[in-house]
This record gives sequence, structure tokens and C-alpha cells, in this order.
Amino acid sequence: MSGPSTYVPKSALGRWFESRLPIMGLIHSSFVSYPTPKNLNYFWTFGGILSLMLGVQIITGIVLVMHYTPHVDHAFASVEQIMRDVNWGWFLRYTHANGASMFFIAVYIHMLRGLYYGSYKAPREVLWILGVIIYLLMMATGFMGYVLPWGQMSFWGATVITNLFSAIPLIGESITTWLWGGYSVDNPTLNRFFSLHYLLPFMIAGVVILHVWALHVVGQNNPTGVEVKNVERDTLPFTPYATTKDGFAMSVFLIFFAWFIFYVPNFLGHPDNYVEANPLVTPAHIVPEWYYLPFYAILRAVPDKLGGVIAMFSAILVLVFLPWLDTSRVRSANYRPVYKMFFWAFVVACIGLGYLGAQPPEGIYVIASRLLAVYYFGFFLVVMPLLGLFETPKPLPASIADSVLGKGAHASQASAQG
Ligand code: HEM
Repeated sequence: MSGPSTYVPKSALGRWFESRLPIMGLIHSSFVSYPTPKNLNYFWTFGGILSLMLGVQIITGIVLVMHYTPHVDHAFASVEQIMRDVNWGWFLRYTHANGASMFFIAVYIHMLRGLYYGSYKAPREVLWILGVIIYLLMMATGFMGYVLPWGQMSFWGATVITNLFSAIPLIGESITTWLWGGYSVDNPTLNRFFSLHYLLPFMIAGVVILHVWALHVVGQNNPTGVEVKNVERDTLPFTPYATTKDGFAMSVFLIFFAWFIFYVPNFLGHPDNYVEANPLVTPAHIVPEWYYLPFYAILRAVPDKLGGVIAMFSAILVLVFLPWLDTSRVRSANYRPVYKMFFWAFVVACIGLGYLGAQPPEGIYVIASRLLAVYYFGFFLVVMPLLGLFETPKPLPASIADSVLGKGAHASQASAQG
């Protein structure tokens, strides 16, 4: 889509440099002249918001590390010291801790956008799968980061999650011991989690570069799901149109983020994590961070430990296969009235699972988790393959330009997709 750059620097020095390393041309073709569908809505600003959040997490994390001590005897106290004695330390920590939640809010909106508009469908399969890899890396990074303050939830959360590996037959116990670096979550565990928590965001940044590269090869999807047919009529240059819109969306998102940092910095956290880790005292309820709760509910919905672990990991891995599970020829849910209803029911099921993940695993909560978990998998494995074969989509616009101008829909909806 971006193609070879026609960019020529104005200054002689710029031209000298460009003929040796055409980096300005790359930036120009990717972020200035890049043709952007003219009908993108605000859901397309979340990729930019996510890039911003990755930057915020890396920068605040690097400064936090200057004051943090990854040792079981000092970790908790070093975090308290950051909060009380380090200049602006409270701000750095609250920004980083709430930043993780903001990052996940943004990624869930970004993923649901993809699910709604069929952005995972050909030719965007690789772009989507790179996204799933980023998401897995984000989950791992968040989990290990939460262990670092060495509070009660850090310790017990780490104990519960690492213990899941012991469900694997024959080698499970050995894997868990190997992960711990000992016979329980202890100093070697904290050290390796610290090391990996520092490393993974840079790996995420690397995969994000591939993700954006893949995006620029196939071009962006858009709310109609109809591909760009005529670059002149259907697109606008990325700068100033998309840059201005992204900048505005980022500013609004930062205000929302700031509200958490300055007014309710502990709202998304758990009070038990202000109690130092104690291997002899188990908290009444061990609950993960909110962004893991739907998966935690699926884990506990299955009565068998190994079965629960398999269900939980499958709930994420199933996303990889979406491009092939969805048989519909039409991408966007705007033109799929029945899929749209199943989609919103799926969103409600995910929120329901999130609520249930925070409840004790007993009685009605477990039954409700089972029902919603069945819907979660049914949506991907039954609804997506079958609905595409039976649903009659609404007529698609002939082109992006026509949809913007409100021109009549094209009769042969499916063929108009390509
Ligand atoms: C650090 C995390 C991520 C960053 C920084 C990121 C960045 C971006 C950017 C800048 C775009 C283009 C703008 C937009 O469409 O919003 C994009 C598009 C896209 N992303 Fe991501 N992304 C991330 C995670 C994910 C995840 C977890 C998935 C899915 C599992 C995903 C799937 C997609 C898809 C399918 C598109 C194309 C959307 C379209 O054109 O309709 N991304 N991403």
C-alpha cells in the first residue's frame, strides 16, 4: 500500500543522507502520504493509543527500576520508598500500575473492533496473528510485573498461576520447580520475573513493528469492510487527517488515564497488595488483576485441573484460527444483522465471565461460568463457521467513497467485497 517512496528531502544534506539511508522516505510513506480509508471511525485510533501506552509503560518502567530492588527482603520496602521518598515516585508508580490497566482497556477495544469489522479476514491473517502474539506477551508481562511489589497478591497470584503447570501429566511438577528456580515461589522466582518483565516490553515493541509493517502491506480495513478500489476517491493521506484524529483521541484517552492516576489510583488494585508477601498466610480470596478475570473464570469453570488449564489457554489460542473459522464473505458486522447480535452477546458473555472470575468458585457462580464459557467457545467454533453459510448479509456499498457520500448500496453484496 505504501509502495516505494517518492519523497525527496529539501536540503542538500537531507538528500545526501537519504541516498545512503532512506529513513525519512520510509517515515514519509508510512505516516505522511500513506493512503488511509476516508471513512475510519474512532475505533481506528486505538492502534495509535496502544503505541502511546507502550511508550508510557517503557519510560515509566525504566525510571522505576532505578529505585526498585528485586530481592524478597527489599522489594516491598523499595516500592514503599518509591511512593514516599523518591521525587515524583508516587506519580511514576501510579502511572505505571494504572497504565497497565489502560493498556488492556485499549487492547480489548482494539481486538473487539477487529472482531466486529472482520479485520482478521484475508488478507489480514498475519497482521491479526501478530496481534494475538502481542496480546500473549502483554499477558505474560502484566503477570510478572504484578509479582514485583512482593505484596500478598503478588506472591499468592504467582503461586496459583505457576502451579497450573503442575497439572501437566508426568513433567508438570518438574516444569513448576524449574519455573520457580526452587521448591516454592521465592527469591529466584522474583529475580527471573524481574528480568523477563524488563525484557518482554521490548519484544512487544519488536512485534508491534512487524504488526504495523504487515498493516501497511495489506492496508487498513474500514467500517464497511469493502476494500479500497480507487486510491483517489476512497482514501486520504495519513497526515494531517489521521494524525490529527489520532492526536485528539490520545488526548481524550490521557484525560481518562489521568483521572485514575490523580483521583482513584488504587481503584483497580487490590488492598492485599499493600501487605507484604507472607508465605505462611493465604489471603481469603486470591484474585488476579481485572484483565485476566474472564480467563480465570474459564479456568475455574472446569472441574478438572488439567481440563481447566487447557480450556483457559484454548480460550486465547482459538483467536489464532479466526481467519479460517469465519466463513462469511462479508467482513463488517454492520452488514451482518445476525452476526451483530451474536457479537454483542459475546461481549456481554466476556463481561459476565470477568465478573464471575472475581467471585468465589462455588454454587451459582460456577454454573454461570460454565454456561458463559460454553457460549465463549460456541461463538468461535459454532456460530462463526455456520453463520457465514446461512446468514443473508445486507447489501454492501459499491465503494468506500459511495458509503461516505451515502450513495445507494450495490446489489451484488458479496462480490463487492474484493
Ligand atoms: C501493543 C499492542 C498493539 C499495538 C501498539 C497495535 C498497533 C496497531 C496499529 C497502530 C494499528 C493501525 C491503527 C488501527 O487500526 O487502530 C493496528 C491495527 C490492527 N491491529 Fe493492532 N496493535 C496492538 C495489538 C493488537 C492485538 C492484540 C490485536 C489482535 C489480537 C491486533 C489486531 C489488529 C488488526 C486486525 C489491525 C487492522 C485493523 C484494521 O485495519 O481494521 N492488534 N494495530
